[in-house]
Amino acid sequence: NAPESIAPALLAWYDANARRLPWRAPPGANATDPYKVWLSEVMLQQTQVATVIPYFETFTARWPGFAAMAAAADADVMAAWAGLGYYARARNMLACAREVARLGELPDSEAGLRALPGIGDYTAAAIAAIAFGRRAVVVDANVERVVSRLFAIAAPLPGSRPAIRQRTDTITPDARAGDFAQAMMDLGSGICTVRAPKCLLCPIAFGCKARTRGDPEAYPVKAKK
Ligand code: ADE
Repeated sequence: NAPESIAPALLAWYDANARRLPWRAPPGANATDPYKVWLSEVMLQQTQVATVIPYFETFTARWPGFAAMAAAADADVMAAWAGLGYYARARNMLACAREVARLGELPDSEAGLRALPGIGDYTAAAIAAIAFGRRAVVVDANVERVVSRLFAIAAPLPGSRPAIRQRTDTITPDARAGDFAQAMMDLGSGICTVRAPKCLLCPIAFGCKARTRGDPEAYPVKAKK
């Protein structure tokens, strides 16, 4: 019951409990559309899942792929983005679509992705794992919380980020890295919540040090202001 060995249990839980989000391939289907993964990750950078869903549906209906978005008028894309906020993201998104259309396809490596407008470390790792099955270490705020609790990391954020990243690396499996990343996100959003985590329903409670200590809400520890 070491935290390092949680991947199989987490993936089995995900197979039965994954949120059916429109950018995810349906269970069994093995095809994720890189365009949809990219678009969803860009929209989710600073916006909640529930807010993103209708925008994602509108965008994919209107611009079903990189070439279609690349050919769109700037003003149409900016108008469709209205309400999502942070308009620099929309400008970068459009610049990225045009660059990908020019390249012919979305790069499948983290380094190649990171070179594109609007794609930082997190987004590059998420796309590489989810769209291309690459083993990438995907750390967002949900993952930070789950991993801090799993290992009962005592050092406070933000200084603990390198340690959290290193721990996330140790638990990330070689196979199904994209499912693993999304399973961690779903666990963080539905079970391993900021307040009142549902440890009794948690598929990886067996490996969780904070659970053993009885103080999961204490993690992630935050630096005193
Ligand atoms: N937040 C960012 N990316 C996500 C994803 N692929 N699924 C759920 N929440 C997310």
